[in-house]
Amino acid sequence: MKHLIDPMDLSKEELDQIITLAQDIIEHREKYQDSQRYRKLATLFYEPSTRTRLSFTSAMMELGGNVLGFSDAKSSSVSKGETVQDTVRVVGCFADVIAMRHHIEGAQLYASEVSRVPIINAGDGSHSHPTQTLTDLLTIQRELGHIDGITIGFCGDLKFGRTVHSLIKALSRYKDIKVVLIAPDELKLPDYIKQDVCDKLGIQYKEVSTMEEVMPELDVLYMTRVQQERFLDLEEFDRVKDSFVLDCAKMALAKKEMAVLHPLPRVNEILTEVDADPRAAYFRQVENGKFVRMALITKLLEWKDDPAHDMPEGEEPVYDATLRCTNAKCICNNEHAPHKFRRSDSGTLRCWYCDSKIR
Ligand code: CP
Repeated sequence: MKHLIDPMDLSKEELDQIITLAQDIIEHREKYQDSQRYRKLATLFYEPSTRTRLSFTSAMMELGGNVLGFSDAKSSSVSKGETVQDTVRVVGCFADVIAMRHHIEGAQLYASEVSRVPIINAGDGSHSHPTQTLTDLLTIQRELGHIDGITIGFCGDLKFGRTVHSLIKALSRYKDIKVVLIAPDELKLPDYIKQDVCDKLGIQYKEVSTMEEVMPELDVLYMTRVQQERFLDLEEFDRVKDSFVLDCAKMALAKKEMAVLHPLPRVNEILTEVDADPRAAYFRQVENGKFVRMALITKLLEWKDDPAHDMPEGEEPVYDATLRCTNAKCICNNEHAPHKFRRSDSGTLRCWYCDSKIR
């Protein structure tokens, strides 16, 4: 069965099928209106959301299906101590597909190990957000007409920004991608993305310290919010929160056809004066999120019983009783998930669930 936990769970062909279907849905909405009648989507949100939860809900409604779930885990039996795995076993009795957001990293991967219906990761801590990635890819395709060959600048919180991590991984499926990283020292891209994704999969990247020096070369500028909720030290948050702000003066340095993306919500990293610029694509991006989730739900339900679309063959986990993941926000330190690991080509051992470096 196909789940979507990590962007790399989708082959390039599957990615293309979803993007193509989303474009067809945009052009022929009436054709899909009743296509998932009697099917049910459960949205299990353990963490706040506006866009992701409502776009999943709107997507399933537009496909003619129904939606159930919770937007606050405190109102469910999670408040009595029910585990993630038990919750998805139960909800799988009521729904055909589950979209889950969780503040604990690896929660959805752990859930998928026992689920009898497809699990969609709607964001796990600062780890991964693959349906935002599908939204971003569809938006780039629609704004520029292509994804291959782009130079994309990621700006802001590249350390905790799960949308950035997921999009860089997915871009490794495309040709001739150049990535420019624009972030304060405290919020630089984690090494595991640089090593295991950029270096291993051949994405060229460079790190710069100002937006101005790279604006003229970008096809896409991907802005992100500095996320207060991910900081343990609020003084550090105050130091970096206004590091990079996009305004009309900086937009004047950019290409005429550059697209500005932002997963939203924004705080003050894009001034509202930029909203009127035709290159500001972030509200069009929100609407694309609904269409691409319609395509994803359709494909996951179509692929559910087709072994050709099973999860990719991965490496075998490494078990070593002397080692533990030290990430306090990992599922294996919050529920009884086993401490198991994956070994990268360079020999680095990483947590199976959250990708933290073990040694
Ligand atoms: N982009 C995004 O994930 O937004 P929400 O947190 O509102 O779902």
